[in-house]
Amino acid sequence: MSEKLKVEPAIEEAYKVALKAQKNSYSPYSHFAVGAAIKFKGDDKLYPGCNVENASYGGTNCAERTAVFSRVAEKGYGPIDYVVVVANTDNPTPPCALCLQIMNEFCDKDFPIYMANGAGILKRMNFKEFLPYSFDTLKEGQKP
Ligand code: THU
Repeated sequence: MSEKLKVEPAIEEAYKVALKAQKNSYSPYSHFAVGAAIKFKGDDKLYPGCNVENASYGGTNCAERTAVFSRVAEKGYGPIDYVVVVANTDNPTPPCALCLQIMNEFCDKDFPIYMANGAGILKRMNFKEFLPYSFDTLKEGQKP
């Protein structure tokens, strides 16, 4: 069982949003419910996400991607400030590699990712620790 991490109120707020989103997880195939909350820079709103599974399996969307896509649909793309991910695991659940690549698209250098379960926040790691070498084809200044 991992120890709980003490975090500032803004992160606690994001944790609550992620927990609420986790309740909406549609995961009848894996029974692995995930919730996420993503804060973008210069935007006070916290974007919730949950995993949405599909009978095709391949059509499944992770919680983190749901949150990122929702923000892009509402306000366009922008740099990520921080991410909270909640799963019902004793040990911290990190974002999957595909979600890291999606986050990389909107990554302004680096940002913290908090991993949590229903008992609280368990661990903080930086994006670059997960993905130190990312796949990018757009060069500096080429992003729209
Ligand atoms: N899942 C997420 O929502 N986020 C992750 O970063 C890891 C995996 C979901 C996808 C699938 O619905 C379930 O967890 C089991 O893999």
